[in-house]
Amino acid sequence: MSHKYGEATTVVHGNHVKNPSGALSTPIFQTSTFVFDSAEQGGRRFAGQEDGFIYSRLGNPTTKVLEEKIALLEGGEECVAFSSGMGAISATLLSLLRSGDHIVADNTLYGCTFSLITETFPKFGIEPSVLDLTDEAAFKAAMRPDTKVVYFETIANPSMKVIDIEAVAAYAHKVAPDCIVIVDNTFASPLLCKPLTLGADVVVHSATKYLNGHGDVIAGFSVSRKEIAGTVRMVGLKDITGAVLGPQEAYLILRGLKTLKARMDVICANTLKVVEFLQRAPQVDKVFFPGLPEHPNHETAKKELKQFGGMVSFEMHSFEAAKKALNNVKLCVLAVSLGDCESLIQHPASMTHSMCTKEEIEAAGFSDRLIRFSVGMEDAEDIIADLKQAFEAAEA
Ligand SMILES: Cc1ncc(COP(=O)(O)O)c(C=O)c1O
Repeated sequence: MSHKYGEATTVVHGNHVKNPSGALSTPIFQTSTFVFDSAEQGGRRFAGQEDGFIYSRLGNPTTKVLEEKIALLEGGEECVAFSSGMGAISATLLSLLRSGDHIVADNTLYGCTFSLITETFPKFGIEPSVLDLTDEAAFKAAMRPDTKVVYFETIANPSMKVIDIEAVAAYAHKVAPDCIVIVDNTFASPLLCKPLTLGADVVVHSATKYLNGHGDVIAGFSVSRKEIAGTVRMVGLKDITGAVLGPQEAYLILRGLKTLKARMDVICANTLKVVEFLQRAPQVDKVFFPGLPEHPNHETAKKELKQFGGMVSFEMHSFEAAKKALNNVKLCVLAVSLGDCESLIQHPASMTHSMCTKEEIEAAGFSDRLIRFSVGMEDAEDIIADLKQAFEAAEA
């Protein structure tokens, strides 16, 4: 969708739709159902012959404003909102796949997505091939003419791997023209990367993170061309998961989005300072950040990302040291999730990725010495001072 405004304007104004009431902020339509003028009108709406709301699981005016803004930001035709990122991911995948289908997925994914693909899907007869999609030969060997979906994350959780979206999508579509390439753009946000403009077919999000940005909502999105979004809404949302976003949450995300550009700029700038500190810290063995020249996918990251993001992982000398550091933070918050104003710190092997086996964790490129850090909007000097004292306490 072409749009004449820049991104800072878009996150504030979206489609510039004026509410009929004249309200500046989008009203919360706290209603489950919508009144028809006549039985005939109800029938026409159900038959898709007339636009208009029916029931809030299928659409709601507050949520619609949000969906249109996200579609605009991602450069997609249509967005479907969900009550969680996992709701968006499962509804998208389950409405596009059926028993007997083949999915190729990267081996570094958010833990619950990884379980869905590797454990749940085989129970429904869907066959996953899980591998490192930055390994070109392995990816080419895994792709088949009947592969239905390729799935990966823009910046992978928690190893910060960056996959070449353009190259993967082009090859997938060449080998399997009907294959749908799905990218989880949570870590990047549409301000750093727009996978649909690079050849992906669908973008999914945990809007719980940067898009809302204030740690008070669980939500998700699926963005794609109309035909796919129609299936995701009318099958994945309506029939399979029912994981609909409530209008209150939609309102909160609309409010959070207004500052997305400002938040991302502060967070990305803070992250560069934190990374510089981590590289010098004697207690840290290795820093995982796509902005570093030594990062294995730095060239892809430079090509694909406007800024390198607000997520950084690092390995301490031992599991014990990692645990002690986590137990000694005072300003940074020991909690899972990411993309909030507060700096959040957590231990993937025992928390977000605890469902993965030791072998799966190794294949995903990290270990139990790894700490994942979501840099917040505090003063960078305060974040760094807190990490420094936590690292020193871990040594004591
Ligand atoms: C990359 C990524 N995708 C999806 C999800 C799932 O999102 P939610 O917790 O909103 O269901 C998460 C959660 O941490 C995530 O990190």
